[in-house]
Amino acid sequence: MTLAPKDPLFADLLELARSLAKAAGDLQRERYETGFQIDTKSAAIDLVTEVDQACEALIVEGIQAARKDDAILAEEGHGGDKEVAEVRWIIDPLDGTTNFAHGFPRFCVSIGIEFNGKRSIGVVYDPLLDERFEAVLGEGAWLGPRRLQVTDETELGRALVATGFAYDVHKSDHDNLASFRNVVKTARGIRRDGSAALDLCYVAAGRLDAYWELKLHPWDVAAGYLIVEEAGGRIGDFTGGPADRSGREVVATNGPLHSQLLGQLEPGS
Ligand code: IPD
Ligand code: CA
Ligand code: CA
Repeated sequence: MTLAPKDPLFADLLELARSLAKAAGDLQRERYETGFQIDTKSAAIDLVTEVDQACEALIVEGIQAARKDDAILAEEGHGGDKEVAEVRWIIDPLDGTTNFAHGFPRFCVSIGIEFNGKRSIGVVYDPLLDERFEAVLGEGAWLGPRRLQVTDETELGRALVATGFAYDVHKSDHDNLASFRNVVKTARGIRRDGSAALDLCYVAAGRLDAYWELKLHPWDVAAGYLIVEEAGGRIGDFTGGPADRSGREVVATNGPLHSQLLGQLEPGS
């Protein structure tokens, strides 16, 4: 079995998201470990490559050609976002840019779709492993033919947990380090792999038991949020409330570990 949405509009949107994610991922695979231009954005450690830009242009042009009225929020600014639109695409054309720039093999394309303001479709494609994670609201989360399910771990001491650090980490005291220390001292293991979208998919796939991060952006979480929920996981903010669209605070777990992880996180630091 594979994911096959009942709603024809959702089936069309999913198919378009899949083909654009695949095309952008193919471009990443071709350009990985070749020379490419690298610039900086908000800080010296916040990179953007010409491949980020090319992937975003490819995805945005593909959406505009097929669906001219849709809103598009895309990280590098190629989209035409609109407050009111039935269908809104939220795109991270290359999540894991630092990895990509250094030849570290962990990055992906992330495409989320909201329908009337509700997260409805998520597709995350890892081109090196040729793994496509996806979810449609109410129809489960999938990795190819495999339906995804979070782990049933109940003890943080036996859990593998991931996190990340924002690009202002050199300058800001709101740097996640106090929480990081607490979790290092409590969990079985911790990972900082450099792709928030894949971290969320790995929680959904049961490869991680939990993940948290501060100061993410809507494009980092738009697809992964739904994929975690559809795999039976729980995702919210540092208070235990629902995570908003901004990605400012993200805590994703298998459910049973949620309050234990929250107990280790220090929202103000
Ligand atoms: C980054 C990655 C990283 C996370 C950063 C994100 P980018 O996205 O997801 O894992 O720690 O906070 O900004 O810049 O590679 O698209
Ligand atoms: Ca990102
Ligand atoms: Ca990105």
